[in-house]
Amino acid sequence: MNTLKDKVILISGGTAGIGQACAQAYVKAGALVAFIGLDQESVLATGALLGTPHLGICGDVSLEGDIEAAVDQTIATFGRLDAIHNNAGLASPSKPLHETTEEEWGRLFDVNVKSILLTTKYGFPHLKATKGCILNTSSLVGEIGQENHAAYAATKGAVNALTKSMAIDYAALGIRVNSVMPAAVMTPMLQQWALEQAQPQQVFDFLKDIHPLGYCPEGDVIADVCTFLLSESARFMTGVNLPVSGGAELGYRRNC
Ligand SMILES: NC(=O)c1ccc[n+]([C@@H]2O[C@H](COP(=O)([O-])OP(=O)(O)OC[C@H]3O[C@@H](n4cnc5c(N)ncnc54)[C@H](O)[C@@H]3O)[C@@H](O)[C@H]2O)c1
Repeated sequence: MNTLKDKVILISGGTAGIGQACAQAYVKAGALVAFIGLDQESVLATGALLGTPHLGICGDVSLEGDIEAAVDQTIATFGRLDAIHNNAGLASPSKPLHETTEEEWGRLFDVNVKSILLTTKYGFPHLKATKGCILNTSSLVGEIGQENHAAYAATKGAVNALTKSMAIDYAALGIRVNSVMPAAVMTPMLQQWALEQAQPQQVFDFLKDIHPLGYCPEGDVIADVCTFLLSESARFMTGVNLPVSGGAELGYRRNC
């Protein structure tokens, strides 16, 4: 089960939701995990959860200095870097495009997209040395769109395009680049998004129904696939935007 034994993985947004589930799964698979979160309290709480050697880093993924420092701290602590998991994301505000302000648009793209530029810029020499991996947490909405959420969906479309383009650029170096595309996963972010809708309770009911497999999952379902994608078992996979969606994108359905 130690499919990530001694691999050093830097994950952003590791202090809640999907990222925290991934950090736990990576530790369970034998990895040494460095994780970035926004505030000291959640970094400490997640560190206590992980237990084994880990590095908790407080920082904002949209700030170049914070990312440079996070990569430096990871190398200083563990001596190498085998994978970067770009997971931190922002989904608010949920509104149609014409109501989205330039500031809101800018913040969504800074956190969800520019952060990948920054982690790649500072992590690249280390990943080149280890023939490592980059994994992005995208979203199914980057492929199929989403009502009332255009700017967020656009950031995830950009993540999908980046995943494929980076995979081509870095394949010759042995660096694999993939993404996972969840549909809905019950996390603080999803709860916040639901509360921003006109009828939150109806939205919570709807979230149970959108996955043909029959339930709204928690982060563990995404973490298991991420663990696979970062392991040697996925050694011939690159440039893949992989739905982990319970079939949410499939065909015509009758909701009855
Ligand atoms: N929850 C879902 O239904 C869902 C579906 C599809 C995709 N996603 C994507 O999965 C990823 C994780 O989502 P989640 O639902 O677990 O979110 P969450 O809000 O529950 O957790 C987000 C994490 O990211 C961190 N974070 C947020 N902004 C940051 C910043 N600027 N700098 C550093 N850290 C920051 C937070 O501290 C937290 O650890 C996001 O990229 C999101 O877009 C989520």
